[in-house]
Amino acid sequence: STYKIGIVVGSLRKESINRQLAQAVAKLLPPDFSAEFIEIGDLPLYNQDLDGNQPAVVGAFKQHIEQQHGIIFVTPEYNRSIPGVLKNAIDHGSRPYGQNSWSGKAVGIMGTSSGAPATSMAQQHLRNTLVFCNMPALNQPEAYIQWRDGMIDAEDKFNERTGSFMQNWVDAYVAWVKKNAA
Ligand code: FNR
Repeated sequence: STYKIGIVVGSLRKESINRQLAQAVAKLLPPDFSAEFIEIGDLPLYNQDLDGNQPAVVGAFKQHIEQQHGIIFVTPEYNRSIPGVLKNAIDHGSRPYGQNSWSGKAVGIMGTSSGAPATSMAQQHLRNTLVFCNMPALNQPEAYIQWRDGMIDAEDKFNERTGSFMQNWVDAYVAWVKKNAA
């Protein structure tokens, strides 16, 4: 059978290094896994008044999440936390009350930044939110990637060193998805 993975990038920037990371990681998934990007840039700001009357774009977003076996968040760190656009998307997926689209999805977390802490603080904040969303999260290995020029080529292929590190992460995540989907 094929396991479906939804990848959510926490940056809306066209040249996002986190999107580049996500595209390279998608290529490391095994043949029985397929990956789709779930876009968050068209979601309105969450407003609880609309819970009974969700905009169509929100319904489509929730449906897209519900079709997946697992989710990978690839996010930058903004001011030592996750970007507001990502938190907004997570909040949308979690509502209306009782219709949390994220629930039970095996989740993996990663991110990249040019700084040495490399999104570790943002990831820790994100974990806090994902616990409440009832998403079983892969704890180890962690993937805080310090961005280096040449780390990923134009064909979305990692260099050897980072590639073997990320393949190790992907192997653990694949096992995690299978375990939670069973
Ligand atoms: C940043 N950046 C940043 N980097 C970091 O390592 N820790 C941080 O707390 C922050 N804070 C922060 C706040 C805001 C508002 C911006 C716009 C940026 C820098 C950030 O890592 C850099 O812009 C990345 O390129 C963002 O990722 P994408 O968009 O390239 O994926």
